[in-house]
Amino acid sequence: MRRGVCGTCRAKLVTGTVTMDENYALEQDELDKGYVLTCQSHPTSKEVTVDFDV
Ligand code: FES
Repeated sequence: MRRGVCGTCRAKLVTGTVTMDENYALEQDELDKGYVLTCQSHPTSKEVTVDFDV
């Protein structure tokens, strides 16, 4: 199964940091703005806040 393709789980990272296993949905400009695919993001900071409404 391929992950990170549909982009349905897209959210903006407000605080903290994550790493993504795969990303086939987000363009570089979205990554630059802080968007992540939450379905396969792993926190790399103690706390992470994401906003699904932006
Ligand atoms: S990319 Fe499809 S649910 Fe995350």
